[in-house]
Amino acid sequence: MSLTFALAPTDLSALESDALIIGVYSGEDGATLAPNHLSEDTAEGVSELLEILNVTGSADQLVRLPGVEDSDAGILVLIGLGAPGEDDTERADALRYAAGSAVRQLSDLEEVTFDLPVTTARELEAVAFGATLGSFTEEGLKVKSADSLKPGVQTVLIATELESDSAEEALERGLILGEATNGARTLVNVPPSHLYPETFAEVATELVEDLPDVSARVYDYDQLLEGGFGGIAGVGQGSVRKPALVVLEYRPEGAQHHVALVGKGITFDTGGNSLKPAASMTTMKCDMAGAASVLHSVLAIAELGLPVAVTGYLCLAENMPGGYALRPEDVLTMRDGRTVEVLNTDAEGRLVMADGIALASESQPDVIVDIATLTGAAMAALGLRTAALMGDSEIRTRVLDAGEAAGEDYWPLPLKSYLRSSMNTPVADIANMGERYGSAMVAGLFLREFVGKNDQGERIPWAHLDIAGPAFNEKAPYGYTPKEGTGFGTATLVNFVASYAE
Ligand code: BES
Ligand code: ZN
Ligand code: ZN
Repeated sequence: MSLTFALAPTDLSALESDALIIGVYSGEDGATLAPNHLSEDTAEGVSELLEILNVTGSADQLVRLPGVEDSDAGILVLIGLGAPGEDDTERADALRYAAGSAVRQLSDLEEVTFDLPVTTARELEAVAFGATLGSFTEEGLKVKSADSLKPGVQTVLIATELESDSAEEALERGLILGEATNGARTLVNVPPSHLYPETFAEVATELVEDLPDVSARVYDYDQLLEGGFGGIAGVGQGSVRKPALVVLEYRPEGAQHHVALVGKGITFDTGGNSLKPAASMTTMKCDMAGAASVLHSVLAIAELGLPVAVTGYLCLAENMPGGYALRPEDVLTMRDGRTVEVLNTDAEGRLVMADGIALASESQPDVIVDIATLTGAAMAALGLRTAALMGDSEIRTRVLDAGEAAGEDYWPLPLKSYLRSSMNTPVADIANMGERYGSAMVAGLFLREFVGKNDQGERIPWAHLDIAGPAFNEKAPYGYTPKEGTGFGTATLVNFVASYAE
């Protein structure tokens, strides 16, 4: 069920929700209340409590107090905003995080009111986006303990003086971005016993049914073989769950630009015959997170009605070992006719993505962005909360800006040409492995080989997002980020496409 948002008057007296939530800034001289609409007396009284209660205003700190006279809300909640932001981005980030953290931590309540320092549409969108992200609950497949699941916050009121037209639009955008991200999270969390290429394709087909401007075409295993998709067919051949490729087309009226989005959809990555050790294999249901982000970003783009044509490619396969599976030293012929020697069957992501990127190139889009949980090396380099970004500098800048507006962090890695020769092999055009050091960049260079040329004979502008680190959270939830699938990248892709609407 989706959250309901409403704007609330800044006169708090008529409020009857379960909680009134106000912000607290941290600072060197102690915590201070963020601007709010409490009466002066009440605000003073609460301020005096901060030190005694050890309220620091740090992110994720949430303190429940009895309700105050100023409103009928049952309790007063203090949520940390961290240090006061120095610019628009920092302020939006803090509001998104605090709103999400509060909604997540108040899952025993139904209706809450935020009285946070929201003075612009961007800030309001950040609160709505964060609250939606924080309301995510994983239903899972529990049978016996299902009754104990709390429904969580259902209604969010936001007190603001913003005028209503732009405010309603900001609420709507925040909600759509949040629900798209939550949709990707849900897909990532589905166990591989239940989500495999065929069921993923079914989900995608069903989800686009209600959207008149979006169509879905599914290539099944036979059609992949016929169409020369050696990468996707090859990676998927070892599984009884056969691979698939889903092409989503969003074609709004009046579009001036065409963006192609390609997502890695390995519904489970055992490593194949180059089998992963047991400890590295758990979490590998997340290896379709890129495809989940592409699917849900395309849906959100259509819901927002952005005037940009978008084609999404979901490269779906299950990477299994066994008698039919790829062997190291097999050679595949890819969609663009190039041959690849498979030296390690665990480097399967680049094989399915190469076919997706080659097919995307055939329709001559203005730009191609691919998103994949591609390498452990990207995690080693940048940790668990930052994705690696590679590709053409103009596109990278656009992705960085889109990510910043979404609260998703990217950092560029260079594609040094000296690494290309490490993928040379006597038996094929290229191998799927190269130099061990810098292997996130080796994977990026591999993908770049499959980006086609445009009418002018130039390589189509392209960027590659390696989300292996931030796609999945094995640790405790924080802010608006739950355990397991994070949906990382979905909102970035929506904002990225929106940048072509201007
Ligand atoms: N799916 C993995 C990458 C991954 C690792 C994603 C951890 C999320 C968390 C990918 O298919 C893989 O196994 N990559 C190998 C490539 C190597 C064999 C060249 C890797 O990174 O070790
Ligand atoms: Zn792998
Ligand atoms: Zn993989």
